[in-house]
Amino acid sequence: MTREFDVFHGHVIERGNFISNICEHEIWQAMTQFDEALRRYYDEQANVYDDMYMRSDLEWRRELEAVTDAMAKALSGRRLLEVACGTGFWTEIVAKVARDIVAIDISEKMLTIARKRKVRSANVEYRRGDAYALAEVSDEFNAGLANFWFSHVPKARIDEFLHGFHKKLGKTAVVFMADNVYVPGIGGQLVTKVGIEDTFKLRKASDGSEYEVLKNYYSSDTLRRLLSPKTSDLKVHEAKYFWWVQYMVP
Ligand SMILES: C[S@@+](CC[C@H](N)C(=O)[O-])C[C@H]1O[C@@H](n2cnc3c(N)ncnc32)[C@H](O)[C@@H]1O
Repeated sequence: MTREFDVFHGHVIERGNFISNICEHEIWQAMTQFDEALRRYYDEQANVYDDMYMRSDLEWRRELEAVTDAMAKALSGRRLLEVACGTGFWTEIVAKVARDIVAIDISEKMLTIARKRKVRSANVEYRRGDAYALAEVSDEFNAGLANFWFSHVPKARIDEFLHGFHKKLGKTAVVFMADNVYVPGIGGQLVTKVGIEDTFKLRKASDGSEYEVLKNYYSSDTLRRLLSPKTSDLKVHEAKYFWWVQYMVP
């Protein structure tokens, strides 16, 4: 039998023997650190977060409109669970066409800003919640939205996130996700770490402190490879700045 090996978090691990006590512990520690940095960074950035959407570049703006159109078409009339809603930038837009929305985020600061948006929609409820614990959200949905979240999911937790998301939404629910394409010079310096499959962005928060934020970039081919075994009717779109996908939970 051929023996195959992976490198994970600086360790050479034989496939099939992935979980030894030491590795499991170290992987857990690394994931906890990445998660904490991500949460602290976005908490810190909540007040200025929306600025990142405001670029004068025409192509950027056209692509944002294309994402908006695709999202609205996919989610029109639906009972929507939005994961990692942030300041409610997308929530406010999709609220015009969705039936109702429960929008969750881990950051109270983000949620406070979301609740103060200019256009208050009666069909939106913002709640604190964890993207990895969606079973705790009590309502029922027939659609899911997760914009600019998938890139922050460690590769080792993609299956966990998708499993929880799809289980919460249920069969035949429609899902829409959008995120960044890697463009050098935008969103901070890219950082790679030996033995770690995720990439990171070096980001300066508004108070001047620096964070290494876990941020993975995917091509349309990789998105198809990752998502097609777990979805049906998958549509993948990759443009210059953003990718977006729409599919159905099988
Ligand atoms: C890049 S922002 C995306 C915000 C919004 N979806 C958007 O597209 O503008 C990522 C968001 O994930 C949130 N977040 C981080 N960890 C989370 C978790 N475990 N569960 C839910 N939200 C989380 C952050 O607070 C932040 O608001």
